[in-house]
Amino acid sequence: MEFKKAVGSRRSIRYYQSWRPVEQGKVQKVLEAARLQSQHGNAQLIRKAVVVVRDEAPKELWDGLVDALYNQPAAAQAPVHVYWTIDMSGWTSLKGELLKLIDVGALTSSYGWSEQFVDDVVMKTPDFNVMSGDLRFAEWLSAIETGLAIGAALLAAVDEGLGTGLLTGKREQIRELLGMPEHATPAQIQLLGYPAENPNAGGQRPRPDFEQLYFKGKWGESFPRDPAVVEELTEAGALQPAAPAVWRKAEIRALAGLFGLPE
Ligand SMILES: Cc1cc2nc3c(=O)[nH]c(=O)nc-3n(C[C@H](O)[C@H](O)[C@H](O)COP(=O)(O)O)c2cc1C
Repeated sequence: MEFKKAVGSRRSIRYYQSWRPVEQGKVQKVLEAARLQSQHGNAQLIRKAVVVVRDEAPKELWDGLVDALYNQPAAAQAPVHVYWTIDMSGWTSLKGELLKLIDVGALTSSYGWSEQFVDDVVMKTPDFNVMSGDLRFAEWLSAIETGLAIGAALLAAVDEGLGTGLLTGKREQIRELLGMPEHATPAQIQLLGYPAENPNAGGQRPRPDFEQLYFKGKWGESFPRDPAVVEELTEAGALQPAAPAVWRKAEIRALAGLFGLPE
């Protein structure tokens, strides 16, 4: 799928064909996309994921996970869950990973990068100073880079023709059920499956106006939105008709009937 189309076609899918498994290769492609995303200090072992496939998981584990996801119906329907997790122990590989970037010519000596610079400057900046016990910056950065990975994973799922969406869950319960160590915290749970609703899910969901979000030169002064660009993005499928489609309420009634849920 063309990139702009994938961006514009993503929706949080909340109804899944529970009877249709997801090919393992597609799950792998989602994970591969996440692995390639940017990382603040290149400490590579911070963002991890546990994939749970309903048809391969013990029933008690699956039921426990659905419960930990607040019993949201989509959690029970989607045949694959990806538990995106922040592992703070990954920070210990920071220095080695930075040295690797110097070795491969990504960080260059012409910009001052050397082992000594890593030791004397980088490892002593507050952002990286995980060993000091002050984890605030490191936790923030870890959440950002895990979010980047998840963003790519969502788009990769759309590109594979899957339905996808994020759920929030009870982190302690999930950690215990999946046998995660203390230094690992489940961040967000990605559902994967084939959508039972139209993948359009009734249209693009409400967003604030572009001008309210983006400024140019100074806070509060809107970045000008060029109608010609809007037209180009519309043609490319990035901007699609806003929700709700006229048929959405009828679709929700039909889905409620299919899954035995209230309308
Ligand atoms: C961090 C995060 C957590 C979310 N948790 C839930 C959730 O627990 N249940 C749910 O139905 N949707 C959840 N969502 C999906 C949002 O509600 C959804 O993205 C938003 O309504 C916009 O709709 P769209 O994704 O279809 O554009 C979550 C999204 C994010 C980014």
